[in-house]
Amino acid sequence: MMNNYGTPPVGIVSGHGAYLVDEQGNEYLDLLAGIAVNSLGTNHPAVVEAVSTQVATLGHVSNLFASPPAVKLAQRLKEKVGDDSARVIFSNSGAEANEAAFKLARLTGRRRILAANNGFHGRTMGSLAMTGQPSKRDIFGPLPGGVEFYPYGDIDYLRALVEINPADTAAIILEPIQGETGVIPATIEFLQDIRALCDEHGILMMVDEVQTGVGRTGSFFAFEKAGILPDVIT
Ligand SMILES: Cc1ncc(COP(=O)(O)O)c(C=O)c1O
Repeated sequence: MMNNYGTPPVGIVSGHGAYLVDEQGNEYLDLLAGIAVNSLGTNHPAVVEAVSTQVATLGHVSNLFASPPAVKLAQRLKEKVGDDSARVIFSNSGAEANEAAFKLARLTGRRRILAANNGFHGRTMGSLAMTGQPSKRDIFGPLPGGVEFYPYGDIDYLRALVEINPADTAAIILEPIQGETGVIPATIEFLQDIRALCDEHGILMMVDEVQTGVGRTGSFFAFEKAGILPDVIT
């Protein structure tokens, strides 16, 4: 395989509950959870049953058709958001969800997207363009344009950046808790101030919940603690 992450030190062959088993039969308590992905552990009976039943019923159907699980999931997500006008688009990864967010920003007709220093939004070109980490982006440039960066948590800087050209500012994107850069939570006030700034200028507030969503911080979405509703949630 490509040497993206160096040679892995351990080969994992199976798992049960919160434990992983390597090629020699050693067991490990999994504190990484696939980088927060396996939040229900490994082989949870409800997940095994749901996946097995679905694969035995209908393995793949293209996006030219509707299918009950997709409609049901979209409905449940809408209920979680609590806004009947909400619309859902499914994608295969966090990076692709953020690509969709990038394209939504473009659909406003405005060019500027403001993203946080040290943020992480994925490794595809659009998501990388919004990722404020030079070590990850620079070797792949030129990236899609229009993205400018602000210091995470600094509302005065962000407001001044918007005010350079509010009418051409499409979106502000951030993680409610920055993950890759050391688990740095946004304050409630920062999230509320961004919501107000976006409302003032007709800017889309985009929240990347790829790491924080689906109950990982206590509420279904992390932004709920701030009592706000973003325009775009990935
Ligand atoms: C906040 C955030 N956004 C997006 C991504 C990209 O998700 P994926 O690896 O599924 O493309 C990640 C991955 O760790 C992430 O932490």
